[in-house]
Amino acid sequence: MTEERYTSSRKWLARAERVTPGAHHLSGRVLTTPERSPMYFERGRGCRITDVDGHEYIDFVMAYGAFLLGYADPEVDAAARQALEQGSLLSMNRPQHVLFAEALVERFAAADMAVLLKTGSEATTAALRIARRATGRRRIARAGYHGWHDWCLPLDRSVPAGLDAQVLEFDSNDPQSLEALFHEYPGEIAAVILAPEMVLPATREVFQAIQDAIHRHGALFVLDEVKTAFRTAPGSVQARFGLKPDLTTVSKGLSNGWPVAAVVGRRGVMSSAAGMHLSATYHGDTAAMAAALTTLRIVEERGVAEHVWALGQRLIDGLNAIAHDHGVPALSYGEPFPPMPFLKFTHPNPETNDALRTAFYEAMLARGVLMHPRHMWFISYAHKPTDIDTTLAHAQSAMKVAREQCRAS
Ligand SMILES: Cc1ncc(COP(=O)(O)O)c(C=O)c1O
Repeated sequence: MTEERYTSSRKWLARAERVTPGAHHLSGRVLTTPERSPMYFERGRGCRITDVDGHEYIDFVMAYGAFLLGYADPEVDAAARQALEQGSLLSMNRPQHVLFAEALVERFAAADMAVLLKTGSEATTAALRIARRATGRRRIARAGYHGWHDWCLPLDRSVPAGLDAQVLEFDSNDPQSLEALFHEYPGEIAAVILAPEMVLPATREVFQAIQDAIHRHGALFVLDEVKTAFRTAPGSVQARFGLKPDLTTVSKGLSNGWPVAAVVGRRGVMSSAAGMHLSATYHGDTAAMAAALTTLRIVEERGVAEHVWALGQRLIDGLNAIAHDHGVPALSYGEPFPPMPFLKFTHPNPETNDALRTAFYEAMLARGVLMHPRHMWFISYAHKPTDIDTTLAHAQSAMKVAREQCRAS
């Protein structure tokens, strides 16, 4: 029965296998199995998406957080279309580039200048390059997912040798592990890049301890707010915790699906980027910038961050109550805050845990709720309280299915 549900999805997968290495790009990887989860989708509007077999889902993946307002937002897309009609990319500079950079720096107390890019990976790579030039140091310490570029996979055999000595990892929940790196490489670490979702629970004390250590050792603090910026009320994570990063990277919450990213930072550091090779053909695309300006306006005028926080908390509370009622070991929490909720199964036996998780998420998919089993979710402005309540009603019965399947096995 479930297998018939995803027939067209599987047909597209078979075709993709012939023309795409690995059959799909990484963020399209299968949620559970191709037999029991949808892989191909046709359209999206608001918080709902429809798969190629015609099933509609309340979506909590939201293209991995790229849609803060909801799919196909009419105002954002109209702004982008208008920019397209004037030629989205002209041969040289555009006033829109200045307006967009101004709009970005206005929104970060610690920023005076911006560099405009297209993707989060570009932004984190650019931030580190700027930091190296500003400090004259080469090594980097990191905690979190920062994209797909070579430096993000220093141990992979397909990247240039030696990156692992340049890119050091620390445990973001243990500021002492960062201190230890500074002691091992005195005067050599240019920057520490941290994605806020890596600090769990997210407390001011841990962020402050990390920031203090960075500045005490003369390095630069790069806060990678690619996921969290604009989504987290009030302001972004740095405003919430009173942080002063030297550089900040932003992308996903910025432009409601249109590709754009930026590094913003303080003048003393950003000035080092003058004349640096940070340019790509499509960086000047004004359609995505127009989308971003409209998104930022809507986010602020309509209290979007407050909305996604409240609904995320409603979902988290509801899921915890359901897990408790069914006696299933599972915990829902914000990663790091309620707008980015998740549900983790916590059974001590790994096999039982996997079985519970798979059964729950497959049952949710079959009921029309798309939640990722291994990645945090994202609430959008298009999600309404009724969507959360519908989701929770389905979670009640999906949790029961999961519990019973595991008992039977
Ligand atoms: C914190 C963080 N930094 C960087 C990136 C890379 O962004 P992109 O996928 O747009 O290259 C991501 C993507 O998920 C991210 O979450």
